[in-house]
Amino acid sequence: MSDDAVVGRKMRKEYGKLVAVDDLDIALPKGLLYGLIGPNGSGKTTTIKMLVGLLSFTKGEAYLLGEKVPVRKKLPLVGYMPQELAIYTDITLHENLELFANLYSMERGDFLRREKELLSMIDLAERKDSVVSQLSGGMKHRTSLACALIHDPELLFLDEPTVGVDPELRVGFWKYFSELKSRGKTVLLTTHYMDEAVRCDVVGMMRAGKLIAEGPPRTLMSEAGVGDLESAFLEFSKRAVA
Ligand SMILES: Nc1ncnc2c1ncn2[C@@H]1O[C@H](COP(=O)(O)OP(=O)(O)OP(=O)(O)O)[C@@H](O)[C@H]1O
Ligand SMILES: [Mg+2]
Repeated sequence: MSDDAVVGRKMRKEYGKLVAVDDLDIALPKGLLYGLIGPNGSGKTTTIKMLVGLLSFTKGEAYLLGEKVPVRKKLPLVGYMPQELAIYTDITLHENLELFANLYSMERGDFLRREKELLSMIDLAERKDSVVSQLSGGMKHRTSLACALIHDPELLFLDEPTVGVDPELRVGFWKYFSELKSRGKTVLLTTHYMDEAVRCDVVGMMRAGKLIAEGPPRTLMSEAGVGDLESAFLEFSKRAVA
């Protein structure tokens, strides 16, 4: 059995005639910051939802931390921030964090320490007793990220974690992602921001349910013979249909 944090083999998801994920192979060694990029509808969210056990596979299989998906034993070690908000809007930010912490049976002391750290990362310490419905869109998004991180998971799936987040805070988020990495966590995230993708260890470029290129950003750019990831994506897209 491989020691990789994530292994997907020939993952396939069909919706009727539509192939959302097309025999995808993916492997993330532990401690890697992996960025999945690709246009709307290319299958990024579907891939993540299959990995976290929210969507069944039409074919193929996957393993998280050595356990076959859908994982049970390893679930407490996995964090997931969905693209659509999955927080409760009629309770406060603090109550949301507490709820997620309780789901994972966190010790009170651990929770309070972790809550403090995350509230500072999302820069919402002063708003922790605000009802979520009264927060701005970006603030709700930041709350959702903190909920995914509250139990200090080993393996994180973050689906567009920085969407709607202001530039200054995005920088803070990326500092935090690097910190997670330096603590040995494995992160798979999606983004439409190329300035973010370039900060990942490995970028996977998705198009029509397939990975058309994968590697460190600089390697991808040099293989495509271009100076930025956007152009590299276009070049690999061209090659994929040629
Ligand atoms: N429940 C569903 N039923 C039918 N088709 C679906 C369903 N969910 C997703 N799809 C289709 O699967 C494809 C992949 O969608 P997915 O959400 O994975 O894309 P994505 O890469 O995450 O896009 P975005 O960048 O917009 O988030 C799309 O064509 C989408 O319309
Ligand atoms: Mg998506």
